[in-house]
Amino acid sequence: MPKNISVLEGRIKELKKQRDAVILAHNYQLPEVQEVADYRGDSLELSRIAAKTEAKVIVFCGVYFMAETASILSPDKKVIMPDANAGCPMANMLSAGDLRKLKKEHPDAAVVGYVNSSAEVKAELDYCCTSTNAVAVVNYLKNKKEIIFVPDKYLADFVAKRTGRTLVTWNGFCPSHIKILPEDVKRERKFHPFAKVIVHPECLPSVVAMADAVLSTSQMAKFARETEAKEMIVGTEVGLIYRLKKDNPGKEFYPASERAICPNMKRTTQEKILWSLEELKEEVKVPGDIRKRAKKAIDRMLEIV
Ligand code: 13P
Ligand code: SF4
Repeated sequence: MPKNISVLEGRIKELKKQRDAVILAHNYQLPEVQEVADYRGDSLELSRIAAKTEAKVIVFCGVYFMAETASILSPDKKVIMPDANAGCPMANMLSAGDLRKLKKEHPDAAVVGYVNSSAEVKAELDYCCTSTNAVAVVNYLKNKKEIIFVPDKYLADFVAKRTGRTLVTWNGFCPSHIKILPEDVKRERKFHPFAKVIVHPECLPSVVAMADAVLSTSQMAKFARETEAKEMIVGTEVGLIYRLKKDNPGKEFYPASERAICPNMKRTTQEKILWSLEELKEEVKVPGDIRKRAKKAIDRMLEIV
């Protein structure tokens, strides 16, 4: 049976067709945004979709670096954000100038950067990576003596432990994920002794050490579908719980901490999506030279994985 949709949702659907637009939403977006999205996903999945979509307009519901990545991969499309003030504090912790300085200090190092970075920073990278493939990218560089891995020091710690490599890192971190503490996991485990603990690699190393599995957000969605477990304690931004519950009605999901909220991911609403489709704003466009250099690092990642 077709679901009942609101007037707002109906208008978005209509205008989306008129504009030849596709709506992409990150897994942390508000339920109302996930409901009108054509695709939901993690950073890697959304990049892949952005790269191959035939739509003329991409409405990106996420944070700024994600829309920039879409624009880098699909320069002929119009990429718009319903709220272009939705930034990522972690991405803002490293500038291109900072990275150039670090590269000068380690002139022979291969440079790997988390997708949570600005286009200018990506233009300085040899390889981009996401939380899904960071370990694979570093493993691919086994012949390199030295590797710079920026900006997330906790993702770097996780990758270093998994690959056995020593990495040159930066002091970046996600302010939302570090709110999840080992005490939170301990408490939830006590309440739900049969639950599996799944956490994002942006979490504190002490939290990562307690997990049954360390996964990107879409890997968590896959794990939740495929596991025999009926209960999961979820150590990531709370927005993912909506998707997990919707996709798995017979299972229970408990946030490791209700405090793990990314305010920037909550800026986008249905009203703003409608406005962005009406006005075709705010456009996110990466200047040509930066785009070309940044694209190389993203393409290399997509070739490895
Ligand atoms: P993924 O969805 O790629 O796991 O990333 C999480 C995140 O924090 C995005 O900013
Ligand atoms: Fe950035 Fe953290 Fe928000 Fe992800 S959850 S967008 S890393 S601040």
